[in-house]
Amino acid sequence: MSRFLPPPLAAALPKISTPAYVADMAALRRNLETADRIRKEAGCRVLLALKAFAMPVLFPLMRESLDGTTASGLHEARLGREEFGREVHVYSPAYTESSLRELASVADHIYFNSPDQIRRFLPLVRAAGKDKKIGIRINPGYSHATLGGHLYDPCSPCSRFGVVRERLDELPWDEIDILHSHTLCESLADGSTGLIDHVAKELGPYVGRVEAVNFGGGHFINKKGYDVDALIRAIRDFRSAFGVDVILEPGSGIVVDAGYLVSTVLDIVHNKKDIAILDASASCHMPDVLEVPYTPPLCGAAGPGIEPFTYILGGNTCMTGDIIGEYSFPRPLKPGDRLVFGDMLQYSFVKNNNFNGTALPDLSLLHEDGSYEVVRRFGYDDFRSRLG
Ligand SMILES: Cc1ncc(COP(=O)(O)O)c(C=O)c1O
Repeated sequence: MSRFLPPPLAAALPKISTPAYVADMAALRRNLETADRIRKEAGCRVLLALKAFAMPVLFPLMRESLDGTTASGLHEARLGREEFGREVHVYSPAYTESSLRELASVADHIYFNSPDQIRRFLPLVRAAGKDKKIGIRINPGYSHATLGGHLYDPCSPCSRFGVVRERLDELPWDEIDILHSHTLCESLADGSTGLIDHVAKELGPYVGRVEAVNFGGGHFINKKGYDVDALIRAIRDFRSAFGVDVILEPGSGIVVDAGYLVSTVLDIVHNKKDIAILDASASCHMPDVLEVPYTPPLCGAAGPGIEPFTYILGGNTCMTGDIIGEYSFPRPLKPGDRLVFGDMLQYSFVKNNNFNGTALPDLSLLHEDGSYEVVRRFGYDDFRSRLG
């Protein structure tokens, strides 16, 4: 749980108004180099899953190393088209006719989730242009999500994602360009290569009918311990065995460990234990802490009872369960102390909410020369505008 506070961030701390998400440009650049290497050495395409991370100010940098974006629906697809450029892919568990009409003019790769949706909407997509690529998400029956048990496993029992094996022959394969198989979550290379091998062994006849296979997201390519060479080998072998293109669409793996959430201690209270109230909230600013659930890394702190001073860290909302976790520190905490949570770019600000009218953290950048830039500060108007 403990993490070292990088010196450039330590130097910038006095300038940071909290709460603030801080993208670490040096770390992000390193992560993007991994993606670029995979593209080049494996000969595949790598997309950014916008659901995990979407900061348009960084798109010019990101599009140098990525082939485009993948969206969960119309708004993300528009963001990808208007702000990122390059390829725009979209997959939704189900489309409405009106959303698909708009999507057909925005996305170039549209993935369906069921035989019925593809049958109903194929004519509409085809009418939008011959160059549109049609994908189908399948459920390959391969579970390897290492996070949150069934909650993050697309192949968990009774999952609604992807066409199950028994129904694959109902699909109009002559109309389908891409087979899509997203089954991983925070998986190391054994998950990625396991999925690729599984599709090769179990679904070869279907792979033979498409021009590309999209192995989804969840490839934790920048996580310590991820064997990038093993992924590259597996993709190369798959491509040469089937003569198809390969696409990956990671979100977390692109931005893992490349940013922070900086917060301030507002008060210390005592109820059997010491409790610090912060200006960062689990409910509003780090909802995955409660949903997964998990305890985020905190720079300079350890698990409870390891260092001499242990505190429960809680948010400044009315929700009793707005608890980030329990941590210990070498010195007692006091109001005004800065606390820096690590690994805070993925599924963080994209999931923010204003519950209790809570202020949203700044979105900011720590540049490689050590300078600190606030990209967006939120205020009352942002809160008010969503209330109609
Ligand atoms: C279809 C699809 N593609 C890509 C992703 C990105 O996954 P990750 O951020 O774990 O890499 C997700 C995440 O839920 C997804 O559902």
